[in-house]
Amino acid sequence: MIISPSLLACDFLNIESELNAFEGFEDLWFHLDIMDSHFVPNLTFGHPIVKLISKKTKIPLDAHFMVSNPEFFIETFKDFNIHNFTFHIEATKNSLELIKKAKKYYPSVGVSIKPKTPLEDISTEVLANIDLLLIMSVEPGFGGQAFIEESYERIEYFNKLKTQYPNLTIQVDGGVSNINADKLRKAGADNLVAGSYIFKEGPTTYREKVESLRR
Ligand code: DX5
Ligand code: ZN
Repeated sequence: MIISPSLLACDFLNIESELNAFEGFEDLWFHLDIMDSHFVPNLTFGHPIVKLISKKTKIPLDAHFMVSNPEFFIETFKDFNIHNFTFHIEATKNSLELIKKAKKYYPSVGVSIKPKTPLEDISTEVLANIDLLLIMSVEPGFGGQAFIEESYERIEYFNKLKTQYPNLTIQVDGGVSNINADKLRKAGADNLVAGSYIFKEGPTTYREKVESLRR
């Protein structure tokens, strides 16, 4: 299982050493939460920081765009070696067009769904064209929030559809910890994002924290 530590929870004054602390870890992506203070009420980091991060690590970058205009970001982030580009279904009316456009630049393209968005808003055409579905288990915008219990049913719903879309990765983001990881995997999660759980006790605990999400 791929684990994606969310750098939103890292020590921003020491990003380089935070990145280095994960060198040699396998099946790991760095999750980058890009927020525009419009789609969500928070502003994080953008092009210059992501560019610097991309130069300092070989670990695949997993960018989660919580922005109102994802189309703009598809091209402006294309040279930063991002492995997975995820945007929100709620942010666009032409998701299929965006997926096709993003596929030109990124090996993996994802779509994310907020906790209150109807599951049917992810159409079969979208499912057939994405590599990753990000199911939010908190309202996007901030790290450190409590996991929303209803998320399990939402994961199970898409997990059942996986027989039709066998290459689809189900990613879960928000309030993930060792307490819910096992249940999330059983519900169908293939990839877990975790911010505060992984980072809160510092680098000496990162390996154990990451491994604890896999068992
Ligand atoms: C929230 C972000 C998450 C966040 C998760 O909007 O998408 O990636 O960093 O943080 P935790 O794991 O602390 O809930
Ligand atoms: Zn995220």
